[in-house]
Amino acid sequence: MDIVILGSGNVATNLAKAFDAAGERLLQIYSPNIEHACVLAEQVGAEGISNLSEVVRNADLYIISVKDDAIEQVAQSLTEVSGLVVHTSGTTDLKSLSRYLKRVGVFYPLQTFSKSRLVSLDDVPLCLESSNDDDLSILIALAERLSSRVYQLDGEKRKVLHLSAVFACNFPNHLYVLAAKVLKESGLDFDIMRPLISETADKVMSNMPFDVQTGPSVRRDETTINKHLSMLNNLPHLQEIYQTLSNSIKIIHK
Ligand SMILES: NC(=O)c1ccc[n+]([C@@H]2O[C@H](COP(=O)([O-])OP(=O)(O)OC[C@H]3O[C@@H](n4cnc5c(N)ncnc54)[C@H](OP(=O)(O)O)[C@@H]3O)[C@@H](O)[C@H]2O)c1
Repeated sequence: MDIVILGSGNVATNLAKAFDAAGERLLQIYSPNIEHACVLAEQVGAEGISNLSEVVRNADLYIISVKDDAIEQVAQSLTEVSGLVVHTSGTTDLKSLSRYLKRVGVFYPLQTFSKSRLVSLDDVPLCLESSNDDDLSILIALAERLSSRVYQLDGEKRKVLHLSAVFACNFPNHLYVLAAKVLKESGLDFDIMRPLISETADKVMSNMPFDVQTGPSVRRDETTINKHLSMLNNLPHLQEIYQTLSNSIKIIHK
């Protein structure tokens, strides 16, 4: 399959490399920043471009993997192409594409991707959507070559998945950032936290998170909670988050 990828960021990089490894042909990589486009293009044997007017018209598949707010603008520039155009966003409607294009779909990988770290797609849930059965079949065939977990999901369910993913991935990672900040204030290294983080994630692989909640809030250890809150007097932003999450644990574990 001949593929053009619009975007050269975290997802574009991981998908381009996965498609390349699976034997698909990457024709072009687009980024508004030509250097970013060329760095990825070079790694997958494609042409790097920074102008949407340069996009070839005869590829089989166009994958828009830019920031959510730019998807529609990129879609508007693809009205002349004949191939299938998909985006990779959890929360963007299919309409953002179908408003301008005939053959459209969604190819949403439920995983956290960073440019600097190649993730195997083998067991990454690939959530697909298309209003056209033939195009959906094309996406399913492609996705099944990359992953053993392929799902056909409508836009509403995909949005719920993405919302849940923000709670399960983005927020915990932000809390690690805050944990590192607290440690750094006292000259301690984040490395000492890694076994705890690893076990916390491991536990929910075989248990429901509710059943393995620990900590002062679930125990109702008010003295400890108050000590922690006073230790954060100089960091009011963290104090507010600590209070909000402690209250949430108490509400959920009534
Ligand atoms: N990261 C994840 O874990 C993840 C997981 C699943 C789905 N997604 C979805 O995948 C898509 C890409 O996310 P990402 O994390 O890969 O983003 P990213 O790393 O920030 O990359 C975004 C790409 O969009 C380009 N871009 C930014 N503004 C643009 C504009 N106005 N016009 C055209 N291109 C523009 C950037 O150009 P530059 O090269 O100049 O920076 C970059 O190539 C999003 O729809 C996101 O919701 C992300």
